[in-house]
Amino acid sequence: MKKIKFSIPNIKNSHLNDVKRVLKSGWLTHGKYTELFENQFKKFTKSRFALTVSSCTAGLHLICLASGFKKGDEVIVPAMSHTATSHAIEYTGAKAVFCDVNYPSGNISVEMIKRKITKKTKGVIVVHMAGHPCDLENILNFCKKKRLTLIEDCAHAIGTLHKKKHAGNYGVAGSFSFYPTKQITTGEGGMVIVNNKKLFLKLKMLKQFGIDKDIKDRKKQGEYNVKDLGYNYRMTDFQSSLGYNQMLNYKKNLSIRHLIAKRYIKNFKNSENIDHMEYSKDCSFFVFQIFCKKRDLLLKHLKKRGIGVSVHYINPLPKMEYYKKKYDLKISDFKIAKMYADRNISLPIYPKLSLHNVDFISNVIKRFIDEK
Ligand SMILES: Cc1ncc(COP(=O)(O)O)c(C=O)c1O
Repeated sequence: MKKIKFSIPNIKNSHLNDVKRVLKSGWLTHGKYTELFENQFKKFTKSRFALTVSSCTAGLHLICLASGFKKGDEVIVPAMSHTATSHAIEYTGAKAVFCDVNYPSGNISVEMIKRKITKKTKGVIVVHMAGHPCDLENILNFCKKKRLTLIEDCAHAIGTLHKKKHAGNYGVAGSFSFYPTKQITTGEGGMVIVNNKKLFLKLKMLKQFGIDKDIKDRKKQGEYNVKDLGYNYRMTDFQSSLGYNQMLNYKKNLSIRHLIAKRYIKNFKNSENIDHMEYSKDCSFFVFQIFCKKRDLLLKHLKKRGIGVSVHYINPLPKMEYYKKKYDLKISDFKIAKMYADRNISLPIYPKLSLHNVDFISNVIKRFIDEK
């Protein structure tokens, strides 16, 4: 039986040669590739600063800390996301307040945020679900009016645009993920983009234990001061070399994702029982999501047919025990997120996936949905 993987990293032999070269050099962290990768990402997203981190979660944590969130504060997040988004708030002692999402985008809007505002609200974290941009301009204007800090969880958003500006540039900062299923991967890893120099320097210090000087800026070996309770959230140089090399081909990667998305949309055109987002040139297509009522049966069927898929995400965050118990949450308050969680399936979309296989996947799904 033919097997189609949900995702395959876009790593070439030449990228592995560079990893080997870095490992053999003995200079495994704070190296040349970290600087190259950060400069390249800065250019790609047209942001003033970029900072490698050990994961998107680490980046979000640092941004929340640097934004001053603390016990007694509330920060609004979508009920439909990876738990990293809300955990980043909770690490600081602040409270994650969940907000219902739109269907089928999975994104939050000003209207939804408004319903969750209290006197304690200090910020909002948006997620660009599957790579579809949130209504960033309106959300930012609203946050400015209410004096709220806007943060962007860009885990799905390498290549996501809103009004021609890259995601991550509307909020005070944006954090990207290079987890293995993402559009590019460094194993684990992430990147924070930011446009304010003071915030960048603070994030940079917090990323490396609270140390105030880079190795190259020290007059004497080991001479530095510790100015804050920072963390070790660095990325290694061999990971940076992997990220850098994949970004060199990223425009091509993105254009193939768009081709595949268009093909799925064409294939599902007459399928009344399958919902999906319309095609958008501004989407990064981290995954291609479809929504159907018979989701769980379809998952089993696809597994039997050797087609790898994923679910983003199986439960809304307010249903997760940690949050449900802590804040006594009721899932009936998040009706759309619940429907979204019950119906979504993420289909394969990556450069090594042929259009022939996209048609095969689409036909298996259509036949199953129409039969049931
Ligand atoms: C929306 C979202 N935010 C944050 C994360 C966490 O990313 P990382 O694994 O790089 O910490 C993920 C992970 O996939 C995610 O989907």
